[in-house]
Amino acid sequence: MQATKIDIGALKAKKARGEKIAMLTAYDAAAAKLVDEAGADVILVGDSAANVVLGYRNTLPVTMDEMIVLTAAVVRGTSHAMVIGDMPFMSFNTSIPDAIRNAGRFVKDAGAEGVKLEGGAQVADTVRAFVRAGIATVGHLGLTPQTAGLIGGYRCQGRTAKAARVILDDALRLQDAGAFLIVLECVPDRLGALIAKRCSVPIIGIGAGSGCDGQVLVLHDMLGFGSNDVPKFVRRYGEVGKHVRDAVGRYCEEVRSGAFPAAEHSFSMPDAEWSELEG
Ligand code: KIV
Repeated sequence: MQATKIDIGALKAKKARGEKIAMLTAYDAAAAKLVDEAGADVILVGDSAANVVLGYRNTLPVTMDEMIVLTAAVVRGTSHAMVIGDMPFMSFNTSIPDAIRNAGRFVKDAGAEGVKLEGGAQVADTVRAFVRAGIATVGHLGLTPQTAGLIGGYRCQGRTAKAARVILDDALRLQDAGAFLIVLECVPDRLGALIAKRCSVPIIGIGAGSGCDGQVLVLHDMLGFGSNDVPKFVRRYGEVGKHVRDAVGRYCEEVRSGAFPAAEHSFSMPDAEWSELEG
């Protein structure tokens, strides 16, 4: 684990040096501690919590209150990485004052160092307002799961020159509005590299190719903890689900057979006390 806390300056310096930024999601203190100790630069408390932790079919139902509880837990488990809270659907879409109040809760109530919100030009004024209010802000372009229904579903975005141009322009708009980092999800690798080259802020890819300034994955997907049905851009770094299932299966078997608990898991009582009790 690195000694110093990662901040915006450190991320900027990494981009300037051509050093890749490693970002992952986490949703509780125990996992955040492991991700932090393993050296992640940024921990995103993603609204993917809706799917991987809360069991919803998509990210839309997760609420501000749920996200605040999860984010506060991640902050308590983290010492080095920068923690970003993900603004849930409808927490920033109704009005800028409401959006600022909700973004402020991630920082003030949960202790996050910044927030992420999905969208391009249409949220540029909101990003500007957040930054003016002192809230460090991360953008999210390309495949934006909260509006998947409007962009043709969960599929690669920016495959035509025209669509790619819109995403590039959106990235520049978010950067101008003050976003200090942009997540770029599920776009052609050449477009990811181009946007990273054109933008001065770090571009963090997820299914956006190796030319981005860093990468992010959903922790449960890369650990194999939960669904086997993961997007093409995920690499499996573990089979945690299998370990958990095997361990729990063994535990159930041993409880039923009486093999657990053994003597070493039990407490003794002095013979004299036992005799007195038995009368
Ligand atoms: O919610 C999330 O986990 C995300 C990542 C996929 C970037 O937005």
